[in-house]
Amino acid sequence: MVDNWVGELIYEGKAKRVYKVNDELLIMEFKDEVTAFDGARKEHAPGKGRLAAAQTVFFMQLLGKYGIRNHLVDWDGDRKILVKSLRMIPIEVIVRNYAYGSFLKRMPLVKPLTKFRKPLVEFHLKSDELHDPLITTDDIIEAGLVNYGQLNEIINTALRVNSILSEFMASRGLTLVDFKLEFGFDKSGNIVLADEISGDTMRILINGRHLDKELFRKGASALDLVRAYEEMNRLLNIP
Ligand SMILES: Nc1ncnc2c1ncn2[C@@H]1O[C@H](COP(=O)(O)OP(=O)(O)O)[C@@H](O)[C@H]1O
Ligand SMILES: [Mg+2]
Repeated sequence: MVDNWVGELIYEGKAKRVYKVNDELLIMEFKDEVTAFDGARKEHAPGKGRLAAAQTVFFMQLLGKYGIRNHLVDWDGDRKILVKSLRMIPIEVIVRNYAYGSFLKRMPLVKPLTKFRKPLVEFHLKSDELHDPLITTDDIIEAGLVNYGQLNEIINTALRVNSILSEFMASRGLTLVDFKLEFGFDKSGNIVLADEISGDTMRILINGRHLDKELFRKGASALDLVRAYEEMNRLLNIP
């Protein structure tokens, strides 16, 4: 799809660099870095970029097979993926199967890792400055980020993604605790699943042990995190 995997750098985030190829396409380059606490803790993590790119490609392709429209176009086999350029909706959509993380902070009445009767879907405004605050569906509509029908589509898609990923993980002995999704609009106004799906954006347990970025948040080294991502890819047969 692209001959040389280069483009003009248009954005550098915490986990990725984004390059413009043309009006339609972007390259996202996964960095060999791990950050936590809004970037307050940051370490070099050799090999992580490729592992997270491989996970993203694998999960986007899996979801594509189930008819979930997503931005993935191609992969260079290393740290770069080619994606459709979208107008991003500045919210993080979180689906939770078990009580963990910021849920427990705001709802300490629930015991850690309690399984929810039904998956919870919640929204956070994407803003490092404001530390990604929890927002309501009314907030989203009033801010004009999406309309009511589009919001319903996002919720339904997030729940479908959850069923697909949860079942897939369970079939490999893994538990999907929670994860984060981002969506954008394509040129025709379709809502498209975007960004990444990796150990950085989900919590996955094997026999109570994390295979995700929670390890790093809890004090493990970048190297231990890379080892956990390698283990995840081995368990899930991700190339
Ligand atoms: N298909 C896409 N089109 C345009 N922007 C995208 C697409 N997929 C993801 N993005 C955006 O690209 C950036 C990826 O870099 P990242 O390091 O994750 O940034 P951040 O630190 O802002 O989360 C994010 O801002 C994300 O919203
Ligand atoms: Mg990000």
